[in-house]
Amino acid sequence: MQRMFPAPLAPLLLLLLLAVSPVICWRPWPHLKANDSDLIFGGSKKYEGSSKFVHMRYHMGPVLTTHINVHTIWYGTWQRSQKKIIREFISSISAVDSNHPSVSGWWKTVQLYTDQTGANISRTVRLGKEKNDRFYSHGKSLTRLSVQSVIKSAVTARTNPLPINPKGGLYLVLTSTDVYVHDFCGQVCGFHYFTFPSIVGYTLPFAWAGNSAKLCPGVCAYPFAVPDYIPGLKPLKSPNGDVGVDGMISVIGHEIAELATNPLINAWYAGQDPVAPVEIADLCEGIYGTGGGGSYMGQLLKGKDGATYNMNGIRRRYLVQWVWNHVVNYCTGPNALD
Ligand SMILES: *[C@@H]1O[C@H](CO)[C@@H](O)[C@H](O)[C@H]1NC(C)=O
Ligand SMILES: *[C@@H]1O[C@H](CO)[C@@H](O)[C@H](O)[C@H]1NC(C)=O
Repeated sequence: MQRMFPAPLAPLLLLLLLAVSPVICWRPWPHLKANDSDLIFGGSKKYEGSSKFVHMRYHMGPVLTTHINVHTIWYGTWQRSQKKIIREFISSISAVDSNHPSVSGWWKTVQLYTDQTGANISRTVRLGKEKNDRFYSHGKSLTRLSVQSVIKSAVTARTNPLPINPKGGLYLVLTSTDVYVHDFCGQVCGFHYFTFPSIVGYTLPFAWAGNSAKLCPGVCAYPFAVPDYIPGLKPLKSPNGDVGVDGMISVIGHEIAELATNPLINAWYAGQDPVAPVEIADLCEGIYGTGGGGSYMGQLLKGKDGATYNMNGIRRRYLVQWVWNHVVNYCTGPNALD
């Protein structure tokens, strides 16, 4: 749901104990700078991870099994080209004709999750309606609650309100580079939750992701930007020429995967604590390819243009983190080498 550190998984313990595939979530958070440079440069530490210690459990709540409509709120200033990259990513989730490895192949791991009746997560994820909030209706500094107020404004707008669709609707609030959201950059790059009837009038699953290009690209748009505190580390070239947005894509994928499998925070998560559930994407943060774990992202692909990616969408390439596969008990993705 949100990336917090230290992870409830006691990564060091896992590091010592485990032996096959990765479970350590990683992002260059500022509070890790104490000394993580050996992690980044050291090939010696291979995080080999583990299955037995992760108990991804189903807690009986609903999951999104009917067509998922992603209703987007563009909060602040967005360029048309930026919106296009994000829309095409969402449309790629259920596209049938992308080249392998594809975004739709990535979604297959999410589809492995079911509800009490055995119904799988929907294969279909569509772009829903969109709303522009160009004039920052709730200011440039938002809290978790005011993000809900942004949704309320969008579903109750006098003109073209977003539809209220609690069953297959998923609300995505995307904030532009000049907007700060509580804990952004320090502890989270995005989060998901559900709206409170007392604020919005309905219980709607929603997620927020921010464009970090101005505030902390080295954290939230990593590896297309790198933090200053790691000297010598070079950013990778992003696939769509927009560091902030290319970095957001993985965060959006992370949140949508978790919303689908844990929309009301009572379905799929690991750990005992519903206050800090460890969800299917949390377990694979920072893992984008075979061998990934710790600060090593795994085997990625490189285009002729020198840009790094790991999956194909309908018209573009993206770099998206893997998600936890509860059937095999490790992180999987479409670009896995076997
Ligand atoms: C971190 O480790 C590097 C290399 O091992 C060292 O040069 C640096 O001084 C360390 N920084 C801190 C804050 O300990
Ligand atoms: C539905 O979930 C079950 C259990 O994980 C899995 O075996 C099956 O392949 C899934 N179906 C699809 C279409 O993904």
